[in-house]
Amino acid sequence: MKTIGVLTSGGDAPGMNASIRSVVRTAIYNGIKVVGVKKGYDGLINGNLEEMGLSSVADIIHRGGTKLRTARSEEFKTEKGRKKALNILKVFDVDGLIVIGGDGSFRGAKELSKLGVPTIGIPGTIDNDLGYTDYTIGFDTAINTVLDAISKIRDTSTSHGRANIVEVMGRSSGDIALYSGLAGGAESVIIPEVGNDVDEVCQKIIKGRNRGKLHSIIMLAEGIGKADELSKEIESKTGIETRVTILGHIQRGGSPTAFDRILASKMGSEAVKLLLSGESGKAVGIKDNRIINMDIDEALNVESKLDKDMYELTKILSI
Ligand code: F6P
Repeated sequence: MKTIGVLTSGGDAPGMNASIRSVVRTAIYNGIKVVGVKKGYDGLINGNLEEMGLSSVADIIHRGGTKLRTARSEEFKTEKGRKKALNILKVFDVDGLIVIGGDGSFRGAKELSKLGVPTIGIPGTIDNDLGYTDYTIGFDTAINTVLDAISKIRDTSTSHGRANIVEVMGRSSGDIALYSGLAGGAESVIIPEVGNDVDEVCQKIIKGRNRGKLHSIIMLAEGIGKADELSKEIESKTGIETRVTILGHIQRGGSPTAFDRILASKMGSEAVKLLLSGESGKAVGIKDNRIINMDIDEALNVESKLDKDMYELTKILSI
């Protein structure tokens, strides 16, 4: 293995840059050349590659987004697209590839590995929706961003005596809503893994009001429903003015937390080591605070499960 490639794909996540830095520096430390692929699999198909030296990753560990940029490639999902990518890897003498992204990116990495390209996946997504790993890069930063928003919304919620719905990202995972909801002391957390019991949410609001609580924060995961409809239903059932904040892409940006930078650094380094030891088709993860790896195929089949104890605790603490 003389040259390895690295790309970021799918939705960006804070910490991707720290991961790129770790890949580049670990590889160079081991005498391996690194090429960065710009704009994910699209860039691979179009030959958008350039060598990355030590200083190319200076000053990025603290930056959100991804220096390599990213894309969701439709062409790469086709056999023709993948063949083009394979050809580019040959032209640039790339012997192995590291893919930083979510499940869609991992599926692409699996295909490349099947075509004979040693490929390793690093989980980079704010959604924390890959069941084989306890955490994905970017999740911790995203929940801290949401937490900051909850604190601000709580101020105004109290002043006006309103209920406030905070809609967060996560696709079909409720982790962003649950973790930030527990940390932010939300009154209710509505997530796809459990379902939406509006009457229970309303009872909580009323119970809170009856004992003098002025604010109500309702965390709503995007995968379960529309915040506007919920807001109208809560208003009509409780008579309490309800406002909606959809946090949107603010959750994807910002300087990564220490946790995400460390996770990204460890995972980047592990991915290079796996390539150097002749592995392919592996996904790097973290389990019980230890860096692990698993076949990508197997990793993609591990169901992303709700932490039921945490959900119950959130409910108990918001009585
Ligand atoms: O997968 C990350 C994510 O931010 C999801 O939480 C969200 O549903 C989606 O990407 C948004 O995608 P886009 O950036 O294309 O709007």
